[in-house]
Amino acid sequence: MTPYLPDRLVSPEPGWTTTADVIVVGSGIAGLTAALRLRQRVDRVLLVTKTVLSEGSTRWAQGGIAAALDPADSPAEHLHDTLVAGVGICDVAAVEALVSEGPVRVRELVALGTEFDRGPDGQISLTREGGHHRDRIAHAGGDATGKEISRALIAALDAVIDDPGIELLEHALVVDLLRGGDTDPRVCGVTLHVIGEGEVDGVGAAYARAVVLATGGIGQVYSSTTNPSVATGDGVAAALRAGAVVTDLEFVQFHPTVLWLGEGSRGQQPLISEAVRGEGAILVDAEGVRFMQGLHELAELAPRDVVARAIVDRMAQTGADHVFLDARHLGREFLERRFPSIVARCRELGFDPATELLPVAPAQHYASGGVRTDLRGRTSLDGLYAAGEVSCTGVHGANRLASNSLLEGLVFAHRLADDVSARLAAGELPPAAATGPATRPGGPALVSPRERTAIQRTMTTGTGAVRSAGTMSRAEKELAAIAEAEAAQTLPGPEAWETTNLLHLAQVLTHVAALREETRGGHVRSDHPHPDDAHWRGHTTAVRGEDGLLSTAYHPVPAQELT
Ligand code: SIN
Repeated sequence: MTPYLPDRLVSPEPGWTTTADVIVVGSGIAGLTAALRLRQRVDRVLLVTKTVLSEGSTRWAQGGIAAALDPADSPAEHLHDTLVAGVGICDVAAVEALVSEGPVRVRELVALGTEFDRGPDGQISLTREGGHHRDRIAHAGGDATGKEISRALIAALDAVIDDPGIELLEHALVVDLLRGGDTDPRVCGVTLHVIGEGEVDGVGAAYARAVVLATGGIGQVYSSTTNPSVATGDGVAAALRAGAVVTDLEFVQFHPTVLWLGEGSRGQQPLISEAVRGEGAILVDAEGVRFMQGLHELAELAPRDVVARAIVDRMAQTGADHVFLDARHLGREFLERRFPSIVARCRELGFDPATELLPVAPAQHYASGGVRTDLRGRTSLDGLYAAGEVSCTGVHGANRLASNSLLEGLVFAHRLADDVSARLAAGELPPAAATGPATRPGGPALVSPRERTAIQRTMTTGTGAVRSAGTMSRAEKELAAIAEAEAAQTLPGPEAWETTNLLHLAQVLTHVAALREETRGGHVRSDHPHPDDAHWRGHTTAVRGEDGLLSTAYHPVPAQELT
């Protein structure tokens, strides 16, 4: 069942227009880094964010940011751990860029004002998370790393916001990408819906010489996720409709330790950082039996996919819907000092980590795939760039190593800003006005927001933490039925656009996941429980054809030598 995608969402004709040199969509670590660096090099940057600046996934990142900052550590060791976690399909050149540029970029964050936690010697304290063989995770506020990085970046933006070179549009949902006419089909802007109070209100068109997508993840495709409610995959969906190549969408990371709040819990769920296990917490089943020892040399600190799968297996064996995290032996004083936000949130919800076992179960956490980019952040569409979770640089392979996501957003946003500004300076991307008409015909009707729960339920049971040909085939049928029932009377608006994005992503993700007949990283199949290097050591790509039908391809990669 090949998914059909329209080339744009039904929306009113733009009622206003604006222009910039570069439009950056999203205000997490990638979007803010790109915008701040670009404004030093190009005349006019427009930063667009769906709600308010601080509302993306970055501020929810607890554990930290990984970088070889300790003199005893090295980028080569960080590279090794990243490649192992990625199960043979990371892009080695992308990982080399990540680990070698990472320490410099993290020091720049410090220079910008980010206050990482420090030890008595004044050095940044480093901790360990799953898959790392060294202490290399820098953290802030104990377990509030993303919040602190977001604060520092927003403060840097506030300091320049009156500069005419940068404009901020909040409460602005990007609906679609705009492309030029047949003779120059590059991406030349976005249509967006702004809930404004004056000049810009309702649907408008913003034109630019380059567009940077930094819209974050897709967590709301699933019933329960650690992602905030804004993570509806708008960037990947818009890129797909515009004809960009997406890759490795089937690799969805489920975080092993998400506080389990009962069967009916939906939406964003409380994360219990891997750093809690990094400090010594252990996993036990309903009988109190520790089960990670013997399964992996790193036990509870095995790569995330290994731990999540072990928990799913244990739940199946014991008939339970959760296991437990035991952090009691770490002591009240240590837990309150090291993990203040987690301890406070647990207590608000009726659990005390200092005295009780915490019920935990895996929940959707991170999309390792996304809009395919090269090492400069360029996508397959000229004029379109992507960075952060929306993108797939190849750094994560089949499974992202813990705390590599903030680092990836930082390093690759920096790289793309340099590429965009160099190209603009060289006159490579002519002004958007030169590209001709930027409108395309509308697609079929929108999906009713009432279908959101059904899409999430279908994805959770069909293409969730564990999949099979049977579950995915049912999911494809259910999603197709939702698509066919598209209600012509559904009015355009943010909720309908988001729900339609969720449906498109669910269909594409399920379609590519059904192709991959093996288990690797974040793609776990009960009917093909092992990796199959002979047939599947490589990437899947998906792209919308001119007829609106999705076409897919498989690209093998050579075996990686790990020392
Ligand atoms: C965590 O703190 O466990 C999450 C960090 C990450 O996703 O890398």
